Amino acid sequence: MNASVSVELQELCFRYPHGGKDAPHTLEGVTLAVERGSLLAIIGHTGSGKSTLVQHLNALLKPSAGTVLIEGKNIHENKHAIREARFRVGLCFQYPEYQLFEETVEKDIAYGPKNMELPAGEIAARVHRAAGLVGLDAALLPKSPLELSGGEKRRAAVAGVVAMEPQVLVLDEPTAGLDPHGRGQMHAMIRRFRRETGRTVLLISHSMEDVAALADRVLVLDRGHAAMHGTPAQVFARAAELEAMGLSVPPVTRIFRLLREKGVNVPAEVFTVAQAEEAIRGLL
Ligand SMILES: Nc1ncnc2c1ncn2[C@@H]1O[C@H](COP(=O)(O)OP(=O)(O)OP(=O)(O)O)[C@@H](O)[C@H]1O
Ligand SMILES: [Mg+2]
Repeated sequence: MNASVSVELQELCFRYPHGGKDAPHTLEGVTLAVERGSLLAIIGHTGSGKSTLVQHLNALLKPSAGTVLIEGKNIHENKHAIREARFRVGLCFQYPEYQLFEETVEKDIAYGPKNMELPAGEIAARVHRAAGLVGLDAALLPKSPLELSGGEKRRAAVAGVVAMEPQVLVLDEPTAGLDPHGRGQMHAMIRRFRRETGRTVLLISHSMEDVAALADRVLVLDRGHAAMHGTPAQVFARAAELEAMGLSVPPVTRIFRLLREKGVNVPAEVFTVAQAEEAIRGLL
């Protein structure tokens, strides 16, 4: 085992049970290693298996074949290992704000740590730490979740997972449906979480801009297969293949590619607006 690997999948296969014996596998032989402290983005067309894959990491789903290792441990070794995986991997579902149900934001964030049977003082400390990490003002804690804005609700829901202080934070489409301001705050939250905790993050996103801005590595799923795995530069260099899978490169990348085709001398590897700005300043 490599000590710097946080999440490891070995030939992971999965088929939803009621699909019938002849139904195709939803995941087919996915092998992957995620370095501790890195951010892996998972992209893929709708239905490619992204959400199914991450639900294996905290044992919500059990592989039909293959192995899931978290911090070097097979999570299906025994009951104890399954419970441990539930606490080690914090999974934040798509549209998690629909799962806010307590009467105050504070109680909602405390729900996970309470389930971990931590002492009351530790729970309170974690709630405040998590609220700070996601950028929620402490004044919002005694309020009802119903009083928060959409972006605040989303961050409160993420805080509930962060408060469990998982080794691996998994965010399934955290910016879906947010406006540019909410999206920017979610990016800031992810950066702050990484800077202050050094933990591993897995991020599912349909936004190539999110991926370009945040990821160290990108996994591309295509109908349950791992079609590509590499740095954003390596993956976004394969624009034609991505398009064949129903994906795209970031919009600025496309514009810069067109400029180069027209003979303008701009760099080929431009994936974020910040990089584009720098390149244009260089030209002027
Ligand atoms: N509970 C379920 N029972 C049966 N089939 C399912 C279930 N959940 C998902 N599937 C099927 O498994 C495949 C992968 O679904 P999954 O939700 O993992 O895709 P995804 O990549 O997360 O898609 P999206 O981008 O739309 O969220 C799809 O064909 C889907 O219809
Ligand atoms: Mg999904």
